[in-house]
Amino acid sequence: MEIIEAKNYDEMSEKAAQLILAKVKQESSLVLGLATGGTPVGTYEHLVKDYQENGTSYQHVHTVNLDEYVGVEKENPTSYHTYMKEHLFQHIDIPSQQTHLPNAMANDLQAECQKYEELIEKLGRIDLQLLGIGVNGHIGFNEPGTSFASTTNVVELTASTREKNACYFDNPFDVPTHAVTMGISTIMKSKQIVLLVSGKQKAQILFKLLTEPTNEQVPASILKQHDHVVIIADQEALMEIKQIR
Ligand code: PGA
Repeated sequence: MEIIEAKNYDEMSEKAAQLILAKVKQESSLVLGLATGGTPVGTYEHLVKDYQENGTSYQHVHTVNLDEYVGVEKENPTSYHTYMKEHLFQHIDIPSQQTHLPNAMANDLQAECQKYEELIEKLGRIDLQLLGIGVNGHIGFNEPGTSFASTTNVVELTASTREKNACYFDNPFDVPTHAVTMGISTIMKSKQIVLLVSGKQKAQILFKLLTEPTNEQVPASILKQHDHVVIIADQEALMEIKQIR
């Protein structure tokens, strides 16, 4: 596992954007796995800025996102469909039919999960999967205790995840209880994984991830078994691990 240190959030975001851009420019066909949440916002800002300044094209790129809330319409401002559109897709030249998120409004969610797995298979392996990490160690919405063998599935969000994400909703009671998330084994099939970690609130989980044996109570700890993971972390997130190194 390679760890890239960044001074702060903006430098972390810039480094992540550079990694992504290098792939976008190098590959004639590319599958990007994308994440939502607060952490990747700066990365997307850098990609948009690059597009405006340099016109890097995404015509050859397909994207698959990690997750979507169950019961939230695509057009709803709090959906991850809207998040991706507003932070990235509407600002670059990626064809909309090449961007994919789980349809968490499907009547048959199990069938939708299967369909999403098939879609990822059909696109070929994800070349680069961008990840954030929850304070509880979740990746995607795979909460602690999730089997490392999980594939795309419907999950119940923990109280701590719902509390943390309540800031995006007008009313805390509106925070969905369930989500469709790419599974851990699906994520692990990606050729490269880039994990972004920023802020002192993530220092403890980063310490756990790096020091504790791989276990299902810390979903992100499985990343230690992957042979091409890059962690880009800022100084605040590295605070605890640096005390023992
Ligand atoms: P955050 O979420 O980027 O909003 O901190 C990360 C995650 O839950 O994966």
